[in-house]
Amino acid sequence: MTQPLVIAIDGPAGSGKSTVARRLAESIGVEYLDTGAMYRAVAFAALRQGIDPDHGAGVTAVAQEMTLEISGDGTVTVDGIDATTEIRGPVVTRAVSAVAAIPGVRQELVSRQREWVRRRGGGVLEGRDIGSVVFPDARLKIYLSARPEIRAARRAKEVTDLDYNTVAADLARRDDYDVNRVHDPLRLADGAVDLDTSDLTIDEVIEVIRGLLDA
Ligand code: DC
Repeated sequence: MTQPLVIAIDGPAGSGKSTVARRLAESIGVEYLDTGAMYRAVAFAALRQGIDPDHGAGVTAVAQEMTLEISGDGTVTVDGIDATTEIRGPVVTRAVSAVAAIPGVRQELVSRQREWVRRRGGGVLEGRDIGSVVFPDARLKIYLSARPEIRAARRAKEVTDLDYNTVAADLARRDDYDVNRVHDPLRLADGAVDLDTSDLTIDEVIEVIRGLLDA
């Protein structure tokens, strides 16, 4: 059997993962999966059902039972409801780290991510644990990083209703949670290329990754 062509892009919030992963996938003609949107979708579904985001068993059941579709244009549909905007909002963003720390949720989403690749024969996946846990044998693993103030400035530009200090504090809180959680914390996977995007444009980042792919 031929190995699926998987490109894993991991890194903290605001490192440029989503933009880079989307553009890279387009440029090599494969599909792209934003796995952070999947964790956000679970948080959205749990909150909608009135389940506490810290309740491991309750949230795991939500993850296992929900229907989730993420279309090519980024539309996220959870149990038939368009959640595209709400999953990026402050309420879901506050709840998502707790949800992503639940082992049962991770197990369910990792299995959906592997199924997504199996159906397509490959793709670009971005998240926190793609190169370390989901696809440790990925053809190429990239760890995108950037200085904290640069990441906060990028996020503040995206979410126009929050000021820089609020965004920076939220990023620091999520970094801490993602890096220090017990299950599948954010870390540089074995064999991953560490790419600091602080002083690079998107085009330059894509160029570096394309070069690594061709090497
Ligand atoms: O990339 P993002 O900000 O949309 O991710 C949302 C949350 O999901 C974030 O707190 C980290 C978590 N996450 C994860 O634990 N594993 C992934 N593969 C992707 C995201």
